[in-house]
This record gives sequence, structure tokens and C-alpha cells, in this order.
Amino acid sequence: MIEFFIDGQLVKAEDDQTVMQAARANGFFIPYFCWHPQLSVPGNCRICVVEVEGEGGGGGWVDIACNMPVTRGMRVLTDSEKVRARRKDTLQFITLNHPVDCGICDKAGECTLQDYHYAYNGAPSVSRDAKVRATKFYPLSERIVLDNERCILCSRCVRFTHEISKSHALGIQNRGDHSLVRPVETGLFENDPYSDNVVDICPVGALLSRQFLHKARVWYLQPTPSVCPGCERGCTVNIWHRRNEWKLKALDARQNARIDRVTPLENPAVNGPWICNKGRDLAQIFERARAAQAMLKGRPVELQVAVDSARALIGAARQPVALVSSWGSNEELAAFDAALGRRFTCHVKSDWLPAPGERIEDDVLIRPDKNPNRAAACARFHALPADPRAAFPPGCDLVLVWGEGFSFAQLPPGVKIVYLNAYLQPENGHADVFLPISVQTERNGHYTNFQGVVSAFQACFAKQAGVVDAETLFPALAGGSTP
Ligand code: SF4
Ligand code: SF4
Ligand code: FES
Repeated sequence: MIEFFIDGQLVKAEDDQTVMQAARANGFFIPYFCWHPQLSVPGNCRICVVEVEGEGGGGGWVDIACNMPVTRGMRVLTDSEKVRARRKDTLQFITLNHPVDCGICDKAGECTLQDYHYAYNGAPSVSRDAKVRATKFYPLSERIVLDNERCILCSRCVRFTHEISKSHALGIQNRGDHSLVRPVETGLFENDPYSDNVVDICPVGALLSRQFLHKARVWYLQPTPSVCPGCERGCTVNIWHRRNEWKLKALDARQNARIDRVTPLENPAVNGPWICNKGRDLAQIFERARAAQAMLKGRPVELQVAVDSARALIGAARQPVALVSSWGSNEELAAFDAALGRRFTCHVKSDWLPAPGERIEDDVLIRPDKNPNRAAACARFHALPADPRAAFPPGCDLVLVWGEGFSFAQLPPGVKIVYLNAYLQPENGHADVFLPISVQTERNGHYTNFQGVVSAFQACFAKQAGVVDAETLFPALAGGSTP
């Protein structure tokens, strides 16, 4: 442990910490562009300068905090006159060729260059020279575009591909004010399943998601904490959607109930500050055509009629089997277990398998099991055997299928089917009773990931009319109250 002073206050630091790390650990703020807690330290942006006071309080010097080791008794000033003057000059340099087109930039509202400009500069450019022009819309990949004029060459994106995703996909070519971030080889960045993280870590609006391009100003959106169900890692995410007070009235009302973007919700126990691109694409999972109509053999009926019919089938069955969803929340699994666990022979099925071309597994985040809650489901029930036919004992006369992903062709012939699903799929009409259930973005709950870490998700949107939460449905199927 080392003791030293920040802004006159005695603080403690680990032996190998830099001034930046020690300052943050002790609650002091030092601005930074190129530094990132998970990446190497290039020390190139110079915005993090601090003053180190000389012996006896005089003759101090100014240097970058992100690459300065803490030494015993040193006295650091984070916001002295010298420091503020140096940061102002640095910002003049950084914005020398920057287009300052914040009015049309997706990063506006989240841009550290904007924030630091107002905090440390606030003055127009002193340069009389024309700005150097560069590519405004460089297609880095199908998912990301690059605005080289906005790039401040912090190299975070380049280091991310070298140090975290290991695709080594990006580099910087040319020198001085002609430097450009560019793909190193065609296809490398395109195939990096973590590529969208560079949009988050770019401190300015140089790297932009095509999905989100000009879709909404960020201050109109609200993040709801959630969990990515794309694999058993269960990365925590923020799902961004329109704020209630900024709901659109004139346009299609569905725009108020859609996922505008997904970003990582930093979680050291699960995913750190990263997620994979599949996690960004949750709208492709949750915004598929939804089932909102209860049915008996494909015939639309009131939800209550369908619940009563399912209850009657369950009550009359002699050998009922349940195929339990590995996408059910901990709460839903507990509700199922309490209400129906003893009535059924239960097996946990896979709702999702890897899609063609999808990365199956790596040593960053992506896990081979594409279901978020198998750990919790298998803690209560047996896994489905490799040959699903072995799950159905002789005399099985009813199967309750919870969630998608199971082909009815694998069911014993003539068996009665009660089917719970959230999406519009052909099987729905083949079930004796079909019950439309809510999806994760419409309810609160928890998943337990493969390491046993429990993460919470919250509802972003109201449930559709005609749809029921599985958690309230299960007691009703067992003869309890109306869902
Ligand atoms: S594109 Fe963004 S992250 Fe990459 S070097 Fe430029 S400013 Fe930094
Ligand atoms: S690693 Fe798995 S849980 Fe994490 S974002 Fe990707 S698909 Fe989702
Ligand atoms: S944050 Fe220290 S030099 Fe960039």
C-alpha cells in the first residue's frame, strides 16, 4: 500500500497502480479519451494530465495520469490552473480538424468530447486554417460505419480488436493529420462477433452502429436492465426504448414499443463491459411475430376457455410429461415446480440451438448452450435425453410443451398436447390447447447462468392483450386462481 496526496487529501493506492487508477478508486475524477480500464495504455490523447507538485509545494510538473505510477508521498493536483490550461490546449488540438457536427451525430448526448469541451475548453477554435477533410461514411462492416473526420485517433477500437476480441481487424494507416482507422484485412472485422463494442468505447461519434444510425436521439430513450438470453453466459445488458414522456404520437405507435438498441450493462461477475453482437440483435429474437390468440386445435377461443381446457386435460391424464423451457425465468420455473412439478414427469428441453454460421463457443464470452437458464431448470428437473423418445414412457397420454424449439413430430402418436409459446409458429395450431405467453421484455425475472450467477431482468413493455405470464398460468393450470 502506498500513501500519497490527491488535491491535498491523503489517499491509499495499491503498489502497482497508476495515478488514474488510484484516483478513480478513491473517488477522484480525471478525464480520459484513450485510456480504458480493460485495455492497454497508449497515453496518446493527453487529456488526463495532472500536476505533480514539487518538493515544498513549488516547481511542479504536468504529465499524464493514465501512465504515471503512484509513488510514496507524491502530491497530485487534478484540477489546478496549469492542468486546466493544458487541457484547454489539448482540446484545441483534438478539435483542430474535428467537424463538430454534433447536430447530426448519434453520439451527441453521450460524447465525452462534447462533455470535456464544455468542461475544459468552451472556446471556439483558434485555428484559421481549413480543416483536413476525411471520409465521412466509411463502411467498416455490415454493422458499423466510420466517420474519419470525427475520429480523434485514440486507438481504443484498434486495441479492442487486438486485446479483447483478438480479431486483429483494425489498424491505423498513414501519419499525422492524414491518419485513418482502417480494416487490416478484408473480412476480419466483418467476422468479429464482438465488433459492436467499438461503437460503445469510441469516445466520439466516429464509429456508429448501422442498426441505430439516425434512429433516435439518446435522450429520448430509456435503458431497462436486462439479461441477454442468447447463450448460457447471460450477459447483462441495457435494452433501450422510447421514454414514456417522449412517446411518438404522430407516427406508427409500434415505434414506442420497440427495442431501439442494446448495450452492455457492465457486470464484472459475468461479462465485464462487453457483449457479443448477438446480444445487440435481441430485437431479432423478441420482435418476431407474436402469438396473442389462445386456440383449441387451431380454433381461436377466449384465454379462459383454453386455460379451462388445459386444466381438464391435465386433470384427466394418466401419464403426463412436461418439456420444460430453458428460457423460463427462475420465478417461472419455481411456479411450474410448485404447481405442476409432481403431476408431470419433467424434462428440460433446448428452446434454441446454434443458428447456421453462428460462432458456437470461444474464450471471450460466447457459450455453446444457446439457452439462458438451463442451469436453473436442470437444478429442478432432468435434462431431456439425447433421444427425446426416451422421455415419453409407455402410456404417455399428454405432453405439455413449454417454449419453442421442440418438433411435434418427436411426440408419441395420438398424445394430447398443451403448448405454451410466445411466437407465431405452425405448431401452435396443431396443439390441442395453445396458450400464448409473454416474453422476457414484458416481465420481471431472473436467470441463473452456467456459473451460477443470478442476474435480473426487468419489463420494458406492457404485455400484449390476450397474452398470459407463465408464472401466473401454472397455478391456474393446477386448479388455482384465474391467470
Ligand atoms: S474511431 Fe473512435 S475509438 Fe477508433 S481511434 Fe477513432 S476515436 Fe478512437
Ligand atoms: S455472449 Fe451470450 S449472453 Fe453474452 S451477449 Fe453474446 S449471446 Fe448474449
Ligand atoms: S487518457 Fe491518458 S493520455 Fe489519453
